[in-house]
Order: sequence, then structure tokens, then C-alpha cells
Amino acid sequence: MAGEKGTKGQKLLKRISPPAGLRGDCRPPGDKSISHRAVILNSIARGQATIANFSPGADCWSTVACLRALGVDISGQPQADKPPVLEVTGVGLDGLREPEDVLNAGNSGTTTRLLSGLLAAQPFLSIITGDSSLRSRPMKRVIDPLRLMGAQVWARGGDSLAPLVIRGGHLQGINYRLPVASAQVKSAIMLAALFARGNTCLEEPQLSRDHTERLLRSLGVSLKMSNGCVEVTPLTAAPPALDLVVPGDLSSAAYWLVAGVIHPRSRLKVINCGINPTRAGLIEVLQAMGAVLKIERERREGHEPVADIQVESSKLRGIDISGEVVPRLIDEIPVLAVAASLAQGTTTIRGAEELRVKESDRIDTTVRELSKMGARIEPLPDGMVIRGVQHLRGAEVDSHQDHRLAMSLGVAALVAQGTTTISGAEAVDISYPGFWEELERISE
Ligand code: S3P
Repeated sequence: MAGEKGTKGQKLLKRISPPAGLRGDCRPPGDKSISHRAVILNSIARGQATIANFSPGADCWSTVACLRALGVDISGQPQADKPPVLEVTGVGLDGLREPEDVLNAGNSGTTTRLLSGLLAAQPFLSIITGDSSLRSRPMKRVIDPLRLMGAQVWARGGDSLAPLVIRGGHLQGINYRLPVASAQVKSAIMLAALFARGNTCLEEPQLSRDHTERLLRSLGVSLKMSNGCVEVTPLTAAPPALDLVVPGDLSSAAYWLVAGVIHPRSRLKVINCGINPTRAGLIEVLQAMGAVLKIERERREGHEPVADIQVESSKLRGIDISGEVVPRLIDEIPVLAVAASLAQGTTTIRGAEELRVKESDRIDTTVRELSKMGARIEPLPDGMVIRGVQHLRGAEVDSHQDHRLAMSLGVAALVAQGTTTISGAEAVDISYPGFWEELERISE
């Protein structure tokens, strides 16, 4: 494989020609969603916690920087050659301090929304903002319930866009049905609810990822689940700090799972990967499409299920994807579109309108970029229709500064005829800084 780097202005260009085969073991980085939650919850715990295999992605380091600005002592830094280890000294329930400056969440929606929930309960003023993509993403979904709890929150665009200005204070528990299945909104409200007066009951239209619930249980916080509602009882004392090893990120492993399936000569194994059922929609859908994926050495890391996953070249057939599985694979849809492009028959994805408000409008950008590579893919208001083709072809494509699109295009390039040039390839650093090196390492 020829994998070269170049630059165009500030943008990194990545050139990829298809390798003869894909072989080896891949260790995905620490889970991004779990890393955010582990450092936030340990910041309000009592004592020192070690978080091993913390995500090296820039998003999680935005959360670390914001927590440091709130007075939390966190040691550790991203490292090129090994997974980061954090030492977090929890400040307890009343130890966060008013930040001296605006908090910068960078590209990270999870940082912005989760910290908004935490800040809504703190007796000081904070302002949180981020890059241009983040400043275009919907924040009303988190502002509305926090206001119902009694928080004072203001924002741009009629209180819907970052920067958010939060004057925290005393909160009341609420009963709330989320208008969209969003783990970020659910988690923001749960964080606020830990500090509120009275219990909070949350109901989601569909189940979203439940890492906050699992981590709270690991911390000894009791949660009641009934009829699809989660009930949070406020904390009366800071929970003791929790050491943990973050499982590998299934959303990062997704690129190797799809690459292994669609490349005609491949045998890959993903080592130490989270397989939480609220995240594992991609595995179920790929298997339903005919992929040979073997889940091995199932085990637990804290309250999270973990396994190794063996993957081989497979013949895929198109299927219909909609309903409850969508929130369980929402971040994997761009790379699933690559798999569907090479499947026999048609794949229809519906009920995924949330893709329009991710780091890019992922319906628009996925359709646009894969079309350049010869995919027969059309947008729907809430998804896409993909008709399988025999081959993709190399083309000049763009990441739109969206990490998941950059990596999906990298996977498409592994099977496309000729050379693919991906502009804005540096976007992978948001969740998977070693992605291009790993791609090169497994290419034969
Ligand atoms: C995340 C939840 C999802 C997901 C995002 C991470 C989380 O977003 O797309 O990448 O860690 O809670 P929504 O809550 O907006 O669905």
C-alpha cells in the first residue's frame, strides 16, 4: 500500500492505494464516551483515581482542560507511543471553582453537553464554547431541561447555540421525557440531578448508550430503572474515587471491522473492545448483512462488557436499518455506508436524522464524498439509500473536518481501485490519533 502524507494549506493530505491484504491485531484507543464520563465523575468524587487507557483523542482532552480550569488536579497527557494514564484528585461535591476564562470544548459535543449539566449545579458563572462546528450544533436540547430544573442558562441564536453562559445554583429534580434519544442530554441531566433537590426521572424515546448509568453504579450511586425510565437520587456525600481501565472504543474498532469484512484478503483481530449492547448495533447489523465476525474472550471491565473480535473477508447483502438499533450505531453510519456500498442489493437507513447535527451533516457529507468514489448513494431527510456496486474507485475526497468521515473514507480507500487522496486527514485526531499509522501497519 502506498500511504503518503502531504499538506494543502493547513490541511493534511493522505494518499492511499489499496493493499494486497489486511492482517494483524488492532488495539482501538480507550473509549471516548467512557473516558469523558470517567474523568468528570472522578472530579467530583473523594480521593485520587487512576484512569488507565484513557482516550488519546482531542475531545477527551478538551474535557480534561475544562476540568483543570474548574480547579481539578489532573495529571497525565496524551502520549504518542502508549495509552494515557490519568491521575485525578477529586474535589468532592462542592470543590469546583469558578473558571477564570471561557471554557473551550473544542470540537466536542460531549464535553459541552455533559459539562453544562455539571455547571448548572455549581454556585458560579461559567461560559463554554468551542470550534465553528461545535458552535453550529443544537444546544437547546440540553438548555431546556436544565432550565426546568431551575438553572439559569443563556446562549446564542435564541438560546440554542454555543457559547453557553451558565449561572449555576440550586436545582430541583424533574420528570422529563427526552425529545431525542441522546446520551449526551441524558447524561447532562443526570449530572445535574446528582446535585438537585428531589429525584429526577428520565425517559428516552429509544435507549441510548448507558455508560453514565454503569459508571454511577460502579461508584456506588443507586439508580432505579423501571418502565424505560431511569431515576436518579441526589448525592448526599461525594462517592469514593474509582480506579478504572477504559475498554477499547467500539466506534474506533468499527473501521477495522468494516475494513476486514470488505477487503477480499483480510484476517484482522480487534483486541480489548467494548461490546456494551447500547453501542453494539454495528456488530449486529454487519452480522445480519452476512459478515463473519467472531466475538471471543468475553469478559468484564468494571461494569462494561469487553471482548476480542475476529473478522474475515465476507460477502455482504444489503438490509434495512431503522428503529431502536439506530442510536446503538449512530456514530458508525458513515463507515456502514462504505460496507453497504459494496454489498449485494440495497441498504436503506432511516430514522437517523440525528446525523444531520453531528460534527458535520453526516448524511450530506457521507453521500457527497462516497459518490465521488463511485458509490450509488442517495440522501433521505432521515438517512440514506445505498445500492451496492462492484467496485469503488479512488478519488480526491474531503473529511469536512469530521473525524468519523475521514476514517470512513480511509476504509473505502483500502478497497477502491487506484489512489484516493483524503484532504483534512488530521481530523482523525479528535478520536483516534494513531489511525493512519494503524492502517499502514495492518496493510500488506
Ligand atoms: C455520545 C453520544 C452520542 C454520540 C457521540 C457521543 C456520548 O451523541 O453520537 O459521539 O458520549 O454521550 P448524542 O447524545 O448527541 O446522540
